[in-house]
Amino acid sequence: MILPITAYGDPVLRKKATNITKDYPNLETLLNNMWETMYNASGVGLAAPQVGLPIRIFLVDTTPFSKDEDLTEDEQSQLDGFKKVFINAEILEETGEEWAFNEGCLSIPDIREDVQRKPKVTIKYMDENFKEHTETFDGLLARVIQHEYDHIEGILFTDKLSSLKKRLLKGRLEKISKGKINVEYKMKFPQMKKGR
Ligand code: NI
Repeated sequence: MILPITAYGDPVLRKKATNITKDYPNLETLLNNMWETMYNASGVGLAAPQVGLPIRIFLVDTTPFSKDEDLTEDEQSQLDGFKKVFINAEILEETGEEWAFNEGCLSIPDIREDVQRKPKVTIKYMDENFKEHTETFDGLLARVIQHEYDHIEGILFTDKLSSLKKRLLKGRLEKISKGKINVEYKMKFPQMKKGR
């Protein structure tokens, strides 16, 4: 089932999400719905707060990035078929010199901006079977994981922009929260007036 994606301005996107336990109700259905919702919106990642749930789950599938011809063959094959569920994730370490990448977000349609992040991330998480992993990722994999991880910490990529950029985007962000935007997928807007 495709779920509506929570738009910028909804308080659920600002909460620090909480851990879940193995017996979280209907977890398998939730994960299936999140995958379906993400693919329907052509996303490479989706976090539970984006479907209205302040819990520590996010999904990543970087396959669409693997088609980028500017990448080396090694980079392409690393991204192709990288599909993972991250439950109760905690970033342990981020290292290296920050680099810029043009990010977007399904909760903030039509806005893309260069965001600075460190290139390497070590993260501890559980998979969908609650098996614990600690792994280090770099490049675009790290980038997508860092963006989604921010969602479960209540952080959006627009928070990381310069104050000038933020000021320039303010009007467009307000329009998004009011639903004054054309978007191809189903969304839930926090400030949409009833009967519109
Ligand atoms: Ni996002």
